[in-house]
Amino acid sequence: MRIPFIAGNWKMFKTTADALQTVADLLRLTEGVEGVEVVVAPSFTLLRSVSDALVDSPIAVAGQDCFWEEQGAFTGEVSPGMLSDAGCSHVIIGHSERRQYFGETDETVNKKLKSAVAAGLTAILCIGETLGERESGDTFKVLERQVGNSLAGVSMPQAEKIVLAYEPVWAIGTGRTATDDQAQEAHAFIRGLVAGIFSPTVAEAVRIVYGGSVKPGNIAGLMSRPDIDGALVGGASLEAESFAAVIRHLK
Ligand code: 13P
Repeated sequence: MRIPFIAGNWKMFKTTADALQTVADLLRLTEGVEGVEVVVAPSFTLLRSVSDALVDSPIAVAGQDCFWEEQGAFTGEVSPGMLSDAGCSHVIIGHSERRQYFGETDETVNKKLKSAVAAGLTAILCIGETLGERESGDTFKVLERQVGNSLAGVSMPQAEKIVLAYEPVWAIGTGRTATDDQAQEAHAFIRGLVAGIFSPTVAEAVRIVYGGSVKPGNIAGLMSRPDIDGALVGGASLEAESFAAVIRHLK
């Protein structure tokens, strides 16, 4: 059985006071919720204060990116070990905004992924097609390339721990969610790819979560599908009320 996984990607939002208020509210609003793994991903500057506020709580903390080297003259970068040191157990890798605006490629994603898992972090690996790619019928080809290239050189025990996030770029921040059918179709395809690269056992164990305009009103439908194991939530994770409602799968 795969434990549902819900992560909130705060992107470049919030200052310390705002972040601490959000996590305090989130802890209150999710008290007693069981059977779901919850993660928040604040900006680098907030990681220490948020992880201190969440210590001994069931909510884990993720970085939004990392570099592949452990240390060195790489101005502006943050290593997997530094994320652990700041209280993170997870890290988002290959988000489409990083691919789109910051030159992330399958190759850099692969390097970051290997470095993060080797350092003991749980990687949340983002993949997904653009609108143009979907409209030209290339969705599966793109997913196959992204999954294959990103996971190259990852071992089976490491692969089982990775969370894959299917985030169709056209659904991110647009209010245009993939339909339950579109998401399920892509997730089943991705699970098949993982089975081919690793094994059917790894594919059965790995969580594949959906991202792109997830809200309290559409999470239940998505979660009812067999290959959708949770969500990577952007906008709706910024307010504790809506994120808690997503976590509780409320309509
Ligand atoms: P939205 O939920 O705001 O569409 O963002 C999704 C996302 O990019 C999560 O990583």
